[in-house]
Amino acid sequence: MMTTALLRPLTVLAVLVAAAAACAQDTIKVGEVASLTGKEATFGQSSHKGTLLAFEELNAAGGALGKKFELFTEDNLSKAGESATAARKLLSRDKVVALLGEVASSRSLEMGPIAQAAKIPMISPASTNPKVTETGSYIFRVCFIDPFQGTVMAKFAAERGWKKVAVLSSASSAYSVGLAKYFKETYLAGGGLIPAEQKYAEGDKDFHAQLTAIRAAGIDAIFVPGYYNEAALISKQARELGLTVPLFGGDGWESQSLLDIGGAAVEGVFFSTHYSPENASPVVASFVQKFKARWGGETPDAMAALGYDSALVFADALRRAGSADGAKLREALAATKDFAGVTGKTTIDANRNATKAAVILTVKDGRFKFVQEVAP
Ligand code: PHE
Repeated sequence: MMTTALLRPLTVLAVLVAAAAACAQDTIKVGEVASLTGKEATFGQSSHKGTLLAFEELNAAGGALGKKFELFTEDNLSKAGESATAARKLLSRDKVVALLGEVASSRSLEMGPIAQAAKIPMISPASTNPKVTETGSYIFRVCFIDPFQGTVMAKFAAERGWKKVAVLSSASSAYSVGLAKYFKETYLAGGGLIPAEQKYAEGDKDFHAQLTAIRAAGIDAIFVPGYYNEAALISKQARELGLTVPLFGGDGWESQSLLDIGGAAVEGVFFSTHYSPENASPVVASFVQKFKARWGGETPDAMAALGYDSALVFADALRRAGSADGAKLREALAATKDFAGVTGKTTIDANRNATKAAVILTVKDGRFKFVQEVAP
C-alpha cells in the first residue's frame, strides 16, 4: 500500500528536478495534476512516477527547442473540486504551456473546461470516459475509451460462458457510470442477462446490502466497474457472504492496493487494462527496467506507462510545433500519428482520442498475471 513516507521523498524529488531545471533560466513549463494522496493515491503516484521519469530522460537528452522541461505537479488529494483549482493555479501562477492529467475521468472533466478556456492543451494519460475529450478542441488523451473497454469485458464474459451477470457500480464517478453502461449495451446485445444491478457511493465501505440482493438473483459473475478500494472490499464481502462466482472489472482495479486490501478474496478476479509489464517487446522491457531502477524496484503499472507516454507524446508534438504556443501545440498534438510508446502506438483521431489494444489481467498467487490482449 502507498504510504506517506513514500510520498514525501517523491514530492521533494519533483521539486528538486524543477529547481535544477529552473537554474537553466528559460524552461518549458509543464503542469501535472495528480491524486498523489487520498482515496486513489496509487493512481496519482504511478502516473507521476512515469511522467517524471519521461521528463528526466528528455532533459538528459537535451530537452526540446533548446530548453529543458520543468514539471510543476499539483496534488488534488483525490478530492472533487481540487483538480479545477489545481489546473487554475498551474495556468495562472506557473504559466505552464500544457496540462498533463488526470487519471480519473471525473477529475479530468473538472480540468477540461479550464484548459479549453485558456487555450492550453491538456493530455489525460488514462481517463477513459468519452466525455473527457468532448469538452473541447484542446483536450486529448493517449488511451482507449470506455465504449471499447466495456465491449472487451462484455465479450470476455460471454466467452467465459457467463450467461447472467450482476453489475455493481458507483452512482457518481463518471468512469463507473459510463463503463457500466457500455458493458451492459454489448453484453445484453450478445444475449447475456443482467438480473441484478446495484449501486454504491464513492468511499462506501459496506456492500453487504447490494451483495445480498445480487446473491438472491443467482448470477454467474459480478461486474464491478469501479476503482480498486471499492473493488477489493466488494470482493472480500462477496466471499464472506458465500458468493463464490468470479468478479471482474476494468482498468480502475489496477493497483497494488487491490491485492493488499483484497488478499485471498481477489484471487481469480479479471480486469481489463492498458498494458502488461510482462509484455516481452523491447520497448516495454526497457521501460520496466528503467522505471524499476528509478523507483526502488517498483514494477510500473498501466498508469505509470500511460503517464510516461503522455509526456513523450507532448514532447513529440512540441518539437513538431517548433513552439510552445497553445494553438500551435494543439495542432501538432491533433496531428500525432503512430507515435511509438510503451502502451503501443498513439494516433490521435478526429475526436482527440487514441485507439489502442486492451489487455486482460487476472490475480494469481497474490500477483497480477497477463491473460490475453484484445485488439481494438
Ligand atoms: N480509466 C479510469 C478513469 O477514467 C482511470 C484509470 C486508468 C484507472 C488506468 C486505472 C488505470 O477514471
